Amino acid sequence: MYRTHTCGELRLADAGKEVVLSGWVQRVRDKGTLLWIDIRDRYGLTQLFLQEGVSSAEVMEKARTLGREFVIQAKGTVIERESKNPNIPTGEIEIQLNELNILNASKTPPFTIEDKSDGGDDLRMKYRYLDLRRNPLKNNLILRHNVAIETRSYLSEQGFIEVETPCLIKSTPEGARDFVVPSRMNPGEFYALPQSPQQFKQLLMVAGFDKYFQIVRCFRDEDLRADRQPEFTQIDCEMSFVEQEDVLNTFEGLAKHLFKKVKGLEFDKFPRMTWHDAMKYYGSDKPDIRFDMKFVELTDLAQGKGFPVFDDSEIVVAINAKGCASYTRKQIDALTDFVKRPQVGAKGLVYVKYNEDGSIKSSIDKFYSPEDLKTWLDRCGAVAGDMLLILSGKTMETREQMNCLRLEMGNQLGLRNPDDYKPLWVIDFPLLEWDEETQRYYAKHHPFTAPKPEDEHLLDEEPSRWAEIRANAYDIVLNGVEIGGGSVRIFNRDLQNKMFRTLGFTDESAQAQFGFLMNAFEYGAPPHAGLAFGFDRLCSLFGGQESIRDFIAFPKNNMGRDVMTESPSTIADAQLEELQIKLDLK
Ligand code: AMO
Repeated sequence: MYRTHTCGELRLADAGKEVVLSGWVQRVRDKGTLLWIDIRDRYGLTQLFLQEGVSSAEVMEKARTLGREFVIQAKGTVIERESKNPNIPTGEIEIQLNELNILNASKTPPFTIEDKSDGGDDLRMKYRYLDLRRNPLKNNLILRHNVAIETRSYLSEQGFIEVETPCLIKSTPEGARDFVVPSRMNPGEFYALPQSPQQFKQLLMVAGFDKYFQIVRCFRDEDLRADRQPEFTQIDCEMSFVEQEDVLNTFEGLAKHLFKKVKGLEFDKFPRMTWHDAMKYYGSDKPDIRFDMKFVELTDLAQGKGFPVFDDSEIVVAINAKGCASYTRKQIDALTDFVKRPQVGAKGLVYVKYNEDGSIKSSIDKFYSPEDLKTWLDRCGAVAGDMLLILSGKTMETREQMNCLRLEMGNQLGLRNPDDYKPLWVIDFPLLEWDEETQRYYAKHHPFTAPKPEDEHLLDEEPSRWAEIRANAYDIVLNGVEIGGGSVRIFNRDLQNKMFRTLGFTDESAQAQFGFLMNAFEYGAPPHAGLAFGFDRLCSLFGGQESIRDFIAFPKNNMGRDVMTESPSTIADAQLEELQIKLDLK
């Protein structure tokens, strides 16, 4: 028997027991006549104790050959520790060692396997299996496991059935880029890896499954960020005979269940905001509502006073940075540099300080009287001690820039506490989005999303009016991160055809790409709707982090590479030949 107990299990009540533990050597402390070894496994850490004269010379000698991360088996007696360690659950006991077996030696690891490691990102990715021995990563994966188990239990309880859908599917042009897989048996033809099981879950509704879910891997060949991986996991769901309201309630229920079971937190009904308001007041379709600092438009007050920058702008918009009138020149310059960075893209930043003594000071005093500026302060609800930060320009661009500034101010003022959870539904997304580059409309969500019935008639109007069409589409946002999204689907073939035409497909190209779905819709498609949560994002937020990477056992780096297995990699000429693929790399 390798072990009678785990390394996290023994307590003072076990004193006197003969036990066997197996695990990895965390560290050895050799004080000559006394020697301690910390042995670690997934469950915790236990101290082993050796003493000259008590432990045999053979065991003492063997203990001195141990290095970090050796795999050992330790047999001994549980005793009460002389100097206890209140910081670990096993801290009141140690094991008086009688027998020590080295099960496997280990090279010295390239970084320390402790809560705070000395290894850089790349090194830790290369030796991911060692990094995963560290508590923070191990705990992240345990959290992930718990979220998965609780998801399955809740949805199953609600009558959902988990169905697996294929990974080798047909490439579809909408959305992100596909990862493709060549088919040996069908030379010149390719499968795509699914960006999501969207079409399959809709087919399952036609098949009558009624309530489907799947914790499923999805693949998207897009640029990576902290909250994006090329392969990631969704909690993918679809329901029949439901309206938007039913879907929101069902998945709000799931989110609440997970919050309760995983974080011990209870929530009232999640607030809802239209996409239009989200853009107007936060400049983002995923507002972080942990703090207020809503946008206030000053265009009417600011124009016509001779300041050309504002006069030439579509919009002048402010946020009220509470208590920031004391910001120094240097701090304001740093904020100006922040908004001018290419990632933000503003041309400049205007401030209006409402000083504690009631005086008003701004960077544009030349153009505006204190009385003018007071009307701005009043509209923003500013009191003495506050400072307005103002941007202007084209409406959408300026809002997006202000979103960056607002989030930065939230950070600076400590208003974005990761332990404070503020979920939000964003609803009524636009159905279509105009793309300047290709001069056409794209589906904002995907081409199967239904327009709001009251806006559907606009599809028959001039294309210039199509941007006004709202969809029955919704996102669930947590602390400024989109953790899920979905929509009510089109289930009527004629409307689906019209939608494809709107998106620039000919009937033939739509048939070639989506024929299987459109044909299925001719055999009694029920009204249906659904949603998918980003499972990795949900886990990272529950773990209090913005990056999803450390909530995935074996993630890719920023270049989409797995530095541990060194993939992607070239393949053998014979493999290429079999696939009848000739490389002509530029
Ligand atoms: P969507 O494209 O919004 O919807 O994706 C759903 C959720 O998946 C997460 N997500 C990602 N997470 C990590 N890395 C990525 N690269 C990544 N891309 C997306 C986000 C997002 O909210 N089929 C539809 C859902 C539906 O309509 O039912 C879909 O895939 O949290």
